[in-house]
Amino acid sequence: MTAQASPIRSVLAGVGSYLPEIVVTNDELAKTIDTNDAWIRERTGITQRYLAQPHETCAFMATQAARIALDAAGATATDVDAIILATATPDQAFPATALRVQAALGAGGFGFDISAACSGFIYGLSVADAMLRTGQIRGALVIGSEVYSRILNWQDRGTCVLFGDGAGAVFLRAEEASSSGRGILSTHLHAQGSLGDILYVDGAVGQPDRSGHLVMQGREVFRHAVTRLSEAVEEALAANGLPHSAVDWLVPHQANLRIIDAIGRRLGLPPERVVKTVAQHANTSAASIPLALATAIGDGRIRPGHLVLMEALGGGLTWGSALVRM
Ligand code: ACO
Repeated sequence: MTAQASPIRSVLAGVGSYLPEIVVTNDELAKTIDTNDAWIRERTGITQRYLAQPHETCAFMATQAARIALDAAGATATDVDAIILATATPDQAFPATALRVQAALGAGGFGFDISAACSGFIYGLSVADAMLRTGQIRGALVIGSEVYSRILNWQDRGTCVLFGDGAGAVFLRAEEASSSGRGILSTHLHAQGSLGDILYVDGAVGQPDRSGHLVMQGREVFRHAVTRLSEAVEEALAANGLPHSAVDWLVPHQANLRIIDAIGRRLGLPPERVVKTVAQHANTSAASIPLALATAIGDGRIRPGHLVLMEALGGGLTWGSALVRM
């Protein structure tokens, strides 16, 4: 979806994040799981992950991140017309975690959750952008919040070492398109349900004997991730008539350093223009992009005027991109 026809742009006005209090290094994990730091580091680039304690629920972390995003935007709860929360690990089947956040913030408007696994934040940006540009809303929180530690099979060393918990949020404000060009330039969403069995959670609501654990065919996911994400980058740039060199920062979903590097190489993007937080955060699914964004804005790498390309792929399969002028 391109934004050219509308005079309204969805401006990314503020970003916030929350990471759990407890950090677990690869060496610490190796005390209880048959793994080691070298294997995890070489295959994934991950060195540690943050793991939520019982009070750090999906809603709690989302609310903390949302408060920071609102502050950064100079906004308050009264400016929030919609809360769109991407998660595969909601605290409850319903109400939507977005509405727990709404209550905690004292916001009005409406809210709902999006289930698109690791692509959820991109899906959320796309939906919010459409509502903002058509005038349905003036301000939206888009949040990714995940507690994957609660759906991991801690006996499966092939998956449990890969993920972490956390939340990230952005506040989007509808603004008239200006010469600065700020705002979301385009979003593109894709899905292929026929690949649902290469990455999924078994068990479901109504199956109390199977609370649900993540199951993954790692090599298959790897293969599709590199291909689809490279295509997504090309698609976003082509839709906006921009060359690779126009991108100031690629902010990819932080699944795995080898996937990120493979995409960077394919696209000829210099490594110094790719934001990487997977080493510290591990894979936080829908939270990974806003967490990476918050990190790179916080340390001064991403600045106003920069062109930022975000892309993600996750269970579903789902994938997509968002191109944003900061
Ligand atoms: N520690 C030590 N050894 C391990 C571990 C571990 N944590 N996990 C698996 N092994 C062993 C296996 O048992 C196997 O041993 P064997 O050869 O004696 O049988 C060996 O390591 C190789 O196992 P593979 O699963 O074949 O390892 P592979 O090279 O495929 O790497 C990995 C696995 C890292 C998961 C890789 O497939 C990958 O990066 N896939 C991408 C998936 C991904 O990132 N998913 C995240 C979710 S999707 C998303 O966000 C995009």
